[in-house]
Amino acid sequence: MTEVVAETKTKALTPFALKGAPALIEAVFPAQKVSYEAQTERKAVQSQTLTGLGSYWKGRKPLILVRAIVLGSLLPQTGDAEADLDIFEKLMAFDDEGLARRALAQGTLKPKDIAARVELADPWSYFSYTIKNSGLTAEQVEAWCCPFDADEEGVTLRWRRDIEESDKLELYRRTLSTYTSYEEKASLCKRPEQIDQGWLYSPVWQVVNRYYAHLGVNAHSFPELIEQFGILRYGHRPRVGDAFAGGGSIPFEAARIGCDVYASDLNPIACMLTWGALNIIGGSPERRAEIEKAQQTVAEAVDEEVTALGAERDEYGNRAKAYLYCLETRCPETGWMVPMSPSWVISKSRNVIAKLIPDHDNERFDIEVVSGVSKEEMKAAEKGTVQDGALVYELNGKIYRTPIKTLRGDYRDSEGNTANRLRRWEKDDFKPRPNDIFQERLYAIHWITKATLGKSRTETFFASVTESDLQRERKVEKIVANNLPGWQRKGLVPDMAIEPGLETTRLRRERGWTYWHHLFDPRSILTLAITKSAMLQSKEAESLILGFAKQLDWLNKGCYFGTGAARESISHMFSNQALNVLINYGTRSAYSCYSIWSLLSSSESTINTRCKIVSKAAGSITDESDLWITDPPYADAVNYHEITEFFIAWLRKKPPAPFDEWTWDSRRALAIKGSDDDFRRGMVDAYQAMAKHMPDHGMQCVMFTHQDTGVWSDMVSIFWAAGLQVVAAWYIATETTSELKKGGYVQGTVILMLKKRPEGDRAGFKQRILPAVRAEVRRQIETMMHLNEEIKDKHGEPVFNDSDLQMAGYAAALKVLTAYTTIGGEDVTSFALRPRTKGEVTVVDEIVQQAAEAANSLLVPEGLGAETWARLSGIQRFYLRMMDMETSGASKLDNYQNFAKAFRVQDYARVMGDMKANAARLKRVSEFTSRELTDSTEIGPTWLGHLIIGLQQLLAEVEPQAVIQQFQQDLPDFMEVRPLLIDMLRFMERKAPEATVREVAEVLGARLKNLRALGQ
Ligand SMILES: C[S@@+](CC[C@H](N)C(=O)[O-])C[C@H]1O[C@@H](n2cnc3c(N)ncnc32)[C@H](O)[C@@H]1O
Repeated sequence: MTEVVAETKTKALTPFALKGAPALIEAVFPAQKVSYEAQTERKAVQSQTLTGLGSYWKGRKPLILVRAIVLGSLLPQTGDAEADLDIFEKLMAFDDEGLARRALAQGTLKPKDIAARVELADPWSYFSYTIKNSGLTAEQVEAWCCPFDADEEGVTLRWRRDIEESDKLELYRRTLSTYTSYEEKASLCKRPEQIDQGWLYSPVWQVVNRYYAHLGVNAHSFPELIEQFGILRYGHRPRVGDAFAGGGSIPFEAARIGCDVYASDLNPIACMLTWGALNIIGGSPERRAEIEKAQQTVAEAVDEEVTALGAERDEYGNRAKAYLYCLETRCPETGWMVPMSPSWVISKSRNVIAKLIPDHDNERFDIEVVSGVSKEEMKAAEKGTVQDGALVYELNGKIYRTPIKTLRGDYRDSEGNTANRLRRWEKDDFKPRPNDIFQERLYAIHWITKATLGKSRTETFFASVTESDLQRERKVEKIVANNLPGWQRKGLVPDMAIEPGLETTRLRRERGWTYWHHLFDPRSILTLAITKSAMLQSKEAESLILGFAKQLDWLNKGCYFGTGAARESISHMFSNQALNVLINYGTRSAYSCYSIWSLLSSSESTINTRCKIVSKAAGSITDESDLWITDPPYADAVNYHEITEFFIAWLRKKPPAPFDEWTWDSRRALAIKGSDDDFRRGMVDAYQAMAKHMPDHGMQCVMFTHQDTGVWSDMVSIFWAAGLQVVAAWYIATETTSELKKGGYVQGTVILMLKKRPEGDRAGFKQRILPAVRAEVRRQIETMMHLNEEIKDKHGEPVFNDSDLQMAGYAAALKVLTAYTTIGGEDVTSFALRPRTKGEVTVVDEIVQQAAEAANSLLVPEGLGAETWARLSGIQRFYLRMMDMETSGASKLDNYQNFAKAFRVQDYARVMGDMKANAARLKRVSEFTSRELTDSTEIGPTWLGHLIIGLQQLLAEVEPQAVIQQFQQDLPDFMEVRPLLIDMLRFMERKAPEATVREVAEVLGARLKNLRALGQ
């Protein structure tokens, strides 16, 4: 790591002038905009800045979110929340000027889009034109002013060649101002990190310096700004720590904007990725050039060796690109060896399939690869020999079907566990033995023609496996057989056993694999051993090893061979978060691996600050940080410790410096996981250690996935015990997961800000705490609503949405609670560490729940009486609240999800009409079926349920009088609840999306109101 102390102009700064001053993030945070930008970053998939190091690491936090947290924690509050937010948005490039620059860099707005949207008296100062419509003359066109529709008018517009960038930017500014929502504007933009930072922020520094002139701030770049605020707060450049560093996005972004960083993780793979982020992606241009050169040298060395072994070329000089393997097994019914694959399609674009040709003499099938087959043959090939968990094939006109379970010989052992008759592979195995139930068979090869080898566009073809191909296979196997023990000794190939676990047990159960190298075919083992050996000899070994890890992910038996319509592809093992065990798979040749392990992305992000990386458990850290930002493994879906053993097995022996200082073991026992008592204990240790290694006026930010109120209670316990007090919370919708397809799931991240709890004891009792919590919740929400009003008046859009307000409600409760040191006479640390009994509702659970309710009761939808609201049950509140939200065009599923949690709705999906992430909506009144409104449903027996039925009846032209009589029969307290029904109907009359429903709501409401007048 380079140690550079940036030259800054810090003379006028008074160190510690902001010691302990409340940070901007404690009062304001543009959570909606950060959410949008975080999702855009996620959607960039492989072109996210750090994914180049390996997409096998899941759950890297969005860099834009980290940037916002660091900045918001360093900047102070000035007493004017609105102006503070304004400056903050400028620094995030979320403001109009930043957006205009980002849109210009993206270049999506074309002259014709601009001409259609803005008023311009002199369009031809900016654009040139070509006339398409023969009826037009140049004279006519030149007399035009914008706006006009160029297509309709019959002209093509281009930018004038001599246009200045500043003029273009001005037009971008004006055009963007014609869009109303932030999302519309930002969708036309590049991400801030993709743009030259000097240019992007050039107009910002002057404004920022003026705004903070009273503090002596004078910055012209992020590193300068960060250093100066560090000095103002902590007396030095701020140091950001992350003791659960994972893929390293927190330390990377903190360092990139100018903080010193400390990063640690229990897992050496995480440490390696963090090292890569800071030193490779964050490397200087010179360093990157050196790494690139070393990559090329190794690629050449590998190529030379593989070529010398004659392993990948056929007799005509063609070179293999990929090999397709499938399992093969003996059918217990016929005794035939049957190749297994869920599909025999090889290429959809070229109509290539594998055909099974019976060989009666040898009771097996030849596999012929045929190209250019008919549509019908393609269709037939889609049905493979493995269907619904069974081996299925046809022989002599008869279909044979044997469940895979039967092939494996599944049975229950004496302890009731499922076992099977698969042979357990041994340490020196690297392919199945002849009598093993599952054999592995090469069934096709993807070749690159000799003539196009080394060209940027290669020609390829698929071919059947020939005798000479098989000889090459045998040759490779022989090399591996002869060298395996030596390679294992030298650490070139793993000799590590697979420990059972949630993820890993499957390997043994489904294939009999017991050592990590069993997940690799002989060819891949050979390629990897040669590559690793060449890499270790390079002086850039540590960087190259990261590429090697990437190659491991992409070169194993868990790589799915895809036959997508456009082209065939081989995916990688960790395309999801599991260890896949596949029936057929594709492996790359050594020749086609280079593109996989080359590491450098195009973006440049030179890091010039001090960075330290350590591999250790969070509970045992000894380094100080001013600001700890962590994303702990809370109820994590990813079993990092297990899946990374796949990599650790290959990398643990003789790792190059500095990785040799780390413990190359997953240390499963120390990994914090789950959400039980052990988890809480692990977290308490970690947060105690971090709090201990932070100055008294330091800050912490903890991110976790928002699940339910139970999470909040756990968090209270953990922070209590760690001596921390919550000061703010924000909610960021970070990503939508693929679960969506199944039933709707948006991942939201809660950002909790914490400070050390002031010294001294404070005893709390439920009776006294509850009113304090309610008051704080109210204060917090009202302050935010007030700011919302002001900003909405000025900018048309509020800053906070309902989810933010709700989170703020929880945070307010946590703020009050975490200020105490004893609760109901019990010391908070012992409360936190005390094991919980199943289903136990602690006093904290109760208080948090009450806080949520207090927050919810403040979120009365506009147009509904507070008294009505107070009497409604969760599902009714949910439906009406969401109906109100929909009137403003909101349609994000996570809002529905959050409110369903907040209102404790059992199954909100039953009242949803659509559950798409960005196009969610409630079920309309007319869409409810009668089965969905019976008394056994959640909504059916409620007042709202009855109203929906009533409205449906009116829509079906039932007389209002009959509907009212029905109410009188069904609702025993009808007269008492009548005002409430009227209020709800008045609300629906204004908010229901269907005009017909609004009409009948009005009719029914009027009838109900008139009841008294009619003396009924
Ligand atoms: C949610 S991930 C962090 C992801 C990271 N923020 C990123 O952006 O990639 C949690 C991390 O905690 C680590 N971990 C689990 N138990 C730990 C412990 N006891 N000490 C330190 N790290 C631990 C895991 O290895 C994992 O990398």
